[in-house]
Amino acid sequence: MSKDVRTQLQSKISMPKGTKRQQKRRRSSKKKELVQDVELKPTTPISTPDTEVEQVQREIIFEPNPGPQTDFLASTEQEVLYGGSAGGGKSYAMIADPVRYLNNPNARMLLVRRSTEELRELISVSKQLYPKAIPGIKFMERDKTWVAPSGATLWMSYLDRDDDVMRYQGQAFNWIGFDELTQWPTPYPWNYMRSRLRTTKASGLPLYMRATSNPGGPGHQWVKKTFIDPDTPNKSFWATDSDTGEVISWPKGHTKEVNRYLNVVYTC
Ligand SMILES: Nc1ncnc2c1ncn2[C@@H]1O[C@H](COP(=O)(O)OP(=O)(O)OP(=O)(O)O)[C@@H](O)[C@H]1O
Ligand SMILES: [Mg+2]
Repeated sequence: MSKDVRTQLQSKISMPKGTKRQQKRRRSSKKKELVQDVELKPTTPISTPDTEVEQVQREIIFEPNPGPQTDFLASTEQEVLYGGSAGGGKSYAMIADPVRYLNNPNARMLLVRRSTEELRELISVSKQLYPKAIPGIKFMERDKTWVAPSGATLWMSYLDRDDDVMRYQGQAFNWIGFDELTQWPTPYPWNYMRSRLRTTKASGLPLYMRATSNPGGPGHQWVKKTFIDPDTPNKSFWATDSDTGEVISWPKGHTKEVNRYLNVVYTC
């Protein structure tokens, strides 16, 4: 991993500035004073406080693997597909990616799989990771939603048939993840969900759509056409409408200055 990428990633994955203080938990004791400062930081080794003096406990919750997993988490393009063989760490990266925004009260995020059965595994991995990374975070089983103490939410949902996009109609998300994108036979859900990608300027949150996938599957052709054919892996390019070839911009009808053009990178 290059130094640049690691530095970039570290700043991405570490909690945003000002949040460490919120995570500190002082336990009252006349002899000991423990400051807990758990963060999702890829480079700092674990240390456990067990001394008489005040010290900082750091626990590595997640350390990205060098290569595509790191590149995926460090990318700043609006849309990114992380492709690759089974077991490469794609879903794990997808679970780790939204953690960095869970301390922002404005964060509204959505992670989808095609079916509820497939979703279960992702939820189970998130249950291992999130409570350690964000103390006090709660998973609302009925709504399948993580609610952080900050108020940030991550909805873990399914999107099977095209009509299911109606579940998300009228909602706004700053981060949308599709795990196993080639499971969707048409680009309709992906294209529709672009319209749900919104946040307020004041939130300071970037707008990201993230996808992972193995080659193959019912959506192989459209995913290849969208992400792989336009350029070589790891290069950014303007996303274009697959029918018209025009650069995609939105919201529709707005002036050019406020349109957001998509950048897409394919990592494999
Ligand atoms: N950075 C990491 N640190 C520790 N373990 C990891 C990391 N990345 C992945 N793993 C582990 O590797 C295994 C495979 O990861 P994951 O399920 O994310 O792969 P995948 O690419 O989504 O596979 P598939 O294509 O089968 O869905 C998991 O058990 C996960 O816990
Ligand atoms: Mg996976």
